[in-house]
Amino acid sequence: MAIRVVVHADKQAASVAVAATIRDLIRRRQAEGRTAVLGLATGSTPLPLYAELVRLHRTEGLSFRNVVTFNLDEYEGLTGDRPESYRHFMEEHLFRHLDLRPGSTHVPDGVAADQARACAAYEEAIRAAGGLDLQVLGIGRTGHIGFNEPPSSAASRTRRVHLDDVTRRDNAMFFARAEDVPHGAITMGVGTIMEARQVELLAFGAAKAGIIRRTIGESPHADCPATWLQLHPACTFHLDPAADTQP
Ligand code: PGA
Repeated sequence: MAIRVVVHADKQAASVAVAATIRDLIRRRQAEGRTAVLGLATGSTPLPLYAELVRLHRTEGLSFRNVVTFNLDEYEGLTGDRPESYRHFMEEHLFRHLDLRPGSTHVPDGVAADQARACAAYEEAIRAAGGLDLQVLGIGRTGHIGFNEPPSSAASRTRRVHLDDVTRRDNAMFFARAEDVPHGAITMGVGTIMEARQVELLAFGAAKAGIIRRTIGESPHADCPATWLQLHPACTFHLDPAADTQP
């Protein structure tokens, strides 16, 4: 089990390739009369991927009627109608442009009164849907996947986490003021992610080269949570040349 690394010509080519993998999964499931269960990510990185999925829907007739989605994470304290929330991000960049069935998209609830119960219910909903067929990931400069900041164990499940200051600074551009970035979030755990049947991680730009090098080169450990992906049986990293770390 080793991470497969593909260096694409640029981030657009990487995004088109991952979108084609998702299209093929959706069509395979359609032919079987089954649901395709997608794990989705937010951030700058997946934007060209989502644009390509919208294009496939609009111009190639790719239907999402048999698709169910589960997002990785949500900020604590933000309702889904807040423009900085990940629910809002997903509606704007992907969901509202597709023919998804009502109720088929899931994003963790950042304002649940009983967060432990809501996290357990999220895990149960993924199980009830048949498990994640394919998880899309970005990676943070701290080595986080989802919002699994260091240290995160391989056994961690959906839970409330404290955000690293590096992550809060990196995400400040999405907020009016840096101090508005929440200190907490709800995230799928590393264990939740590791149970996805297939993982496609995207990383673009020179700012990600250092963490990609660590993720591939270091033995799996909790202080760089993305290293756990080395233990996944079907994980591919899609890089652009700037994020590539090969000599
Ligand atoms: P980015 O975030 O896509 O905005 O770089 C990635 C991540 O934090 O997982």
